[in-house]
Amino acid sequence: MSRDAPAGQSDDNINMTKKKKNILVTSPNTNTAAVATKATNGSQPFGVMWIFLLNIIFFFVCSCFFVYVDRASEATGYAQVSAGKIRWWLKIGKSARVWGITDMGLVQDGEECDFFDGKWVWDDNYPLYKSKDCGFLDQGFRCSENGRPDWNFTHWRWQPHHCNLPRFDAQKMLEGLRNKRVVFVGDSIGRNQWESLLCMLSTAVSNKKSIYEVNGSRITKHVGYLVFKFRDYNCTIEYYRAPFLVLQSRPSLVSSEKVVTTLKLDTMDWSSRHWTDAHLLVFNSGHWWNHEKTIRSGCYFEDGGDLKLDMSVEDAYKRSIHTFLNWVRQKVNTTQTHVIFRTYSPVHFSSGNWKNGGSCHLETNPIFGQALAQTKSQAQLWILKTLDELVSKKTTGIDILNVTRMAEYRKDGHSSRYYLGPGKLAPLVRQDCSHWCLPGVPDSWNEILYGLFMQRRFA
Ligand SMILES: *[C@@H]1O[C@H](CO)[C@@H](O)[C@H](O)[C@H]1NC(C)=O
Ligand SMILES: *[C@@H]1O[C@H](CO)[C@@H](O)[C@H](O)[C@H]1NC(C)=O
Ligand SMILES: *[C@@H]1O[C@H](CO)[C@@H](O)[C@H](O)[C@H]1NC(C)=O
Ligand SMILES: *[C@@H]1O[C@H](CO)[C@@H](O)[C@H](O)[C@H]1NC(C)=O
Ligand SMILES: *[C@@H]1O[C@H](CO)[C@@H](O)[C@H](O)[C@H]1NC(C)=O
Repeated sequence: MSRDAPAGQSDDNINMTKKKKNILVTSPNTNTAAVATKATNGSQPFGVMWIFLLNIIFFFVCSCFFVYVDRASEATGYAQVSAGKIRWWLKIGKSARVWGITDMGLVQDGEECDFFDGKWVWDDNYPLYKSKDCGFLDQGFRCSENGRPDWNFTHWRWQPHHCNLPRFDAQKMLEGLRNKRVVFVGDSIGRNQWESLLCMLSTAVSNKKSIYEVNGSRITKHVGYLVFKFRDYNCTIEYYRAPFLVLQSRPSLVSSEKVVTTLKLDTMDWSSRHWTDAHLLVFNSGHWWNHEKTIRSGCYFEDGGDLKLDMSVEDAYKRSIHTFLNWVRQKVNTTQTHVIFRTYSPVHFSSGNWKNGGSCHLETNPIFGQALAQTKSQAQLWILKTLDELVSKKTTGIDILNVTRMAEYRKDGHSSRYYLGPGKLAPLVRQDCSHWCLPGVPDSWNEILYGLFMQRRFA
């Protein structure tokens, strides 16, 4: 089976494969034993013949086994074994690759598979839902309903190079989330991902009325937070708008007219008290950390009560990430709460940027194979660097959802001119090449989120 096969397999298949492997693992050993016995007994020429023959059979069986394991490791992929926590290790020869199946998936060379190292493959079984069947989407993300003519962008599935992702199973995820909370915190790209997860999960619920915002609020771009409840599972999927993660408010000391608001770099957003006891906590930040959305808009930085008029956006961002990490350390019990940080979601404006006519509306295919264009802005580069530093500190208890590379291939995935509503085409010079059409790219982030969630659930 090729790597491009649909992700995941049923549990039954995996159990079968394991049984088969069991048999295969023992048979070469039995043969070795047989060879040894014969060898000591055989003194006649006939005995030598036997040894020779048995050796041939032995090597034949061995090579079949090699081929089998090699194939099987690609085919079985990733599965969840419901009974117990069985760890499988198959070591073949000294130089052979080490493949194993854990209860959650394939590991290679003792390392967990890197979900983020992969490629986009065409899959007729995608998308996972249709936007017209999902009531939880902003109009801005309903590209096809808003008139986007091409559909190809909904058919790509993310395929890691060295393993398969588990097939997204909304029912299983909801069962796992019974009596629990999922909280997304961040900017509108975070809302993009949150709405995608709402749609993905709601496919398992036939009575859509049993899913509702707790206060009856509608999804709009402007509210502070929204809490959607899946009644039958007593689980909530929540979104808190906090594009900087740290607190933005009036300046502590009025010192200058140009200072309209300040970002308190040492204090988390006011809504952070709602986040701490979530079961799954998904953060992101980055798109608001630029000159336009801070200093240019009269938003300066404050640290320890001091106004820092000269502080660069880059330094301020670093400071905010530190505050975030300290907050996780001090306020979140990472044994109970699975903390995930999603990395920067790339933009794809060509021939300009968001305010001077950059576009992406003619993109109908992902970038394949070739090296990704080095079009990252300085700002994107230091945001990525800061996050790398964050990871290198090996902050315990935080999983990184590293979507940057995988999304970089998807220049075809953005709302472009199709974010205003049905029949309303945005002007060529006012395109949205940072948010994503749904169904689309953020669904794949949530498939990986599902993988991380299940991995931890069964770890
Ligand atoms: C519903 O879930 C919440 C946590 O989100 C929990 O506090 C509450 O006890 C649950 N209710 C029931 C009836 O289990
Ligand atoms: C719902 O309304 C209550 C009462 O006004 C408020 O305290 C709470 O924050 C609201 N929740 C959401 C998710 O808007
Ligand atoms: C964190 O949660 C675990 C699991 O519920 C619990 O055993 C532990 O005591 C908690 N730690 C703190 C510091 O509250
Ligand atoms: C969509 O995908 C099909 C199949 O891969 C391809 O033949 C077609 O050219 C694509 N359409 C566009 C607009 O790229
Ligand atoms: C994310 O992946 C990219 C490309 O694979 C890598 O360069 C970067 O260091 C990763 N970032 C983090 C925070 O893990």
